[in-house]
Amino acid sequence: MTHNPLDLWNVSREDYPADGSEIEKLKFMLRYAILAPSGHNTQPWIFKITNSHIEVYADRGRELPEVDPEHRELFISCAAALFNLRAAIRYFGYEDHVEILPDSKNANLVAVVSLGGQYHPTDEDQQIFNIIPKRRTHRLPFKNLNVPESVVFKLVAAVESEGAWLHVIGQDEKQAVADLVAKGDELLLSRPDFREEFVEWLRPNKSNAPDGIPGYAFGLGNLASTVAPFLIRKLNVGKSQGAKDRKTLLNAPLAAVLGTPGDTPHDWITAGQALQRLLLVARKEEIYAGYLNQPIEAEELRPVLRDNIGVDGFPQILLRLGYGSEPRLTPRRSLDDVVVA
Ligand SMILES: Cc1cc2nc3c(=O)[nH]c(=O)nc-3n(C[C@H](O)[C@H](O)[C@H](O)COP(=O)(O)O)c2cc1C
Repeated sequence: MTHNPLDLWNVSREDYPADGSEIEKLKFMLRYAILAPSGHNTQPWIFKITNSHIEVYADRGRELPEVDPEHRELFISCAAALFNLRAAIRYFGYEDHVEILPDSKNANLVAVVSLGGQYHPTDEDQQIFNIIPKRRTHRLPFKNLNVPESVVFKLVAAVESEGAWLHVIGQDEKQAVADLVAKGDELLLSRPDFREEFVEWLRPNKSNAPDGIPGYAFGLGNLASTVAPFLIRKLNVGKSQGAKDRKTLLNAPLAAVLGTPGDTPHDWITAGQALQRLLLVARKEEIYAGYLNQPIEAEELRPVLRDNIGVDGFPQILLRLGYGSEPRLTPRRSLDDVVVA
């Protein structure tokens, strides 16, 4: 029987080994960790299970040197998975014990996680955990509906509770940020190596690959999903993509920059956990998010973005948020592929 990478989303808390060992419980909770978002759906994480804890590693074999030369998004992705693991630990009634970057000699060890004392999950803990399998990245237009102020407050609070900040882009800032997104597309997509890297992670709709982004996630039909990689490889589509993304940002019901006070691996892990909490709180409110990170990924534009929105610190992720129909699932690698004993 061939393995279907979409089955991984079919997690059921009913399968939790309540009478199992701590390690069996932690291993079960990893089913939720791997549902996290990651750059180009690389899923750049490895989990090492020891006697009493799980070590979360960044998988440098899955780095993206063109779009992410400093490994910033690599750490953000691993931290999003870490957040899911923490959420599962609390849901199943334990304090989440986490040491971030505990080994100065091993920069790839993102965190060490273990089960703490007994814990009574709050309503918020339960809601956040239950929504993990329903989060998706949204790349199609949102409905023309505003996000209520009360929800915006919740999103800001979610991000701040993880030690990051969220700057909601005001109407007076939107045009400048949209222009930066377009400029970012032009700069990045003009580089053949950047396009090559992107195409390497783009998958035809009918692919059974357990990673990468299927064309349907971009709204492509079956034929277009097989042709797109050839076109992107050959053509500099920066101008047209830039024009499209500029419009997408201008039409977004809500756009926001998630950032951190510093720009170290520690800050990236903070950003990743804050991102995942925000995405889950948003989804709980029926709101989806899509990414427009180009002005952060194009390094010359990052300080310009920071000045345009008048923040201290470092922009890490640029999101648009709104209401829309539920996107299809993207694949995941099986636990066997990401867990080492
Ligand atoms: C750090 C990070 C950066 C990302 N950057 C982008 C991006 O620039 N554009 C985009 O469309 N999606 C971006 N994504 C979303 C991923 O492509 C997405 O999480 C992945 O394909 C898995 O799909 P899912 O989120 O629907 O589960 C990013 C995700 C993360 C965690």
